[in-house]
Amino acid sequence: MRLRNDPEAHEKLKIFDNYIQNPFEYRGKWHAYFGNNNPIHMEIGSGKGKFIITLAQQNPQINYIAFEKVPTVLLKLVRKIPDGGLKNLAVISEDAKKLCEIFEDGEIDKIYLNFSDPWPKYRHTKRRLTAKPFLNIYERVLKDNSLIEFKTDNRPFFDFSLEELKDSKFIIERFTYDLYNSDLLEGNIATEYEERFHGLGTPINKVIVRLNKK
Ligand SMILES: C[S@@+](CC[C@H](N)C(=O)[O-])C[C@H]1O[C@@H](n2cnc3c(N)ncnc32)[C@H](O)[C@@H]1O
Repeated sequence: MRLRNDPEAHEKLKIFDNYIQNPFEYRGKWHAYFGNNNPIHMEIGSGKGKFIITLAQQNPQINYIAFEKVPTVLLKLVRKIPDGGLKNLAVISEDAKKLCEIFEDGEIDKIYLNFSDPWPKYRHTKRRLTAKPFLNIYERVLKDNSLIEFKTDNRPFFDFSLEELKDSKFIIERFTYDLYNSDLLEGNIATEYEERFHGLGTPINKVIVRLNKK
């Protein structure tokens, strides 16, 4: 279901405490922003936010960043944040292409990619969030030895992603073509898209990779 674009979404976001109006000014200062040295985990393409908000509620000792390029979608996310806010959640409306302008090298401890847009046409390959140019960006903003967790219902996109990963500094630790019949299911938080596709009986693919910068 596509959301109708709200041309004022960007303006409306400004009243929410968790929303970062100018994330570029915090480059290299994200720990200062959160006021602690806790690890920083980020979901890229957070959509309406069920996943990242649940994680932030469950793990106050971790800082979370919801990174989503469409302000109209992000508005749905911030409106779900419970009253009183979540001090460990920051919300950014930007394109993942700009991650290196917003985060210093090694500033992020973990990345989640959940049901990223598969961009099935060949000419759109570079837009896929697991395409090599994006892996190169993640390699920079992530600390060495940290993890990316990626889930998708789309098998061709998953296979493409495994191929891109083979030729990268990310080592595949675990993967499954059927999350709901796998031991990777333990502790799983279903996203909005996941609920829909799992509900339709589509197998969910998941891979966990670890960065090895050497
Ligand atoms: C298919 S939705 C999945 C949303 C959510 N993760 C879920 O599983 O329910 C993909 C989301 O990624 C966002 N997105 C796509 N490309 C992006 C990019 N380059 N940077 C940031 N967000 C992006 C889209 O706007 C969309 O909200």
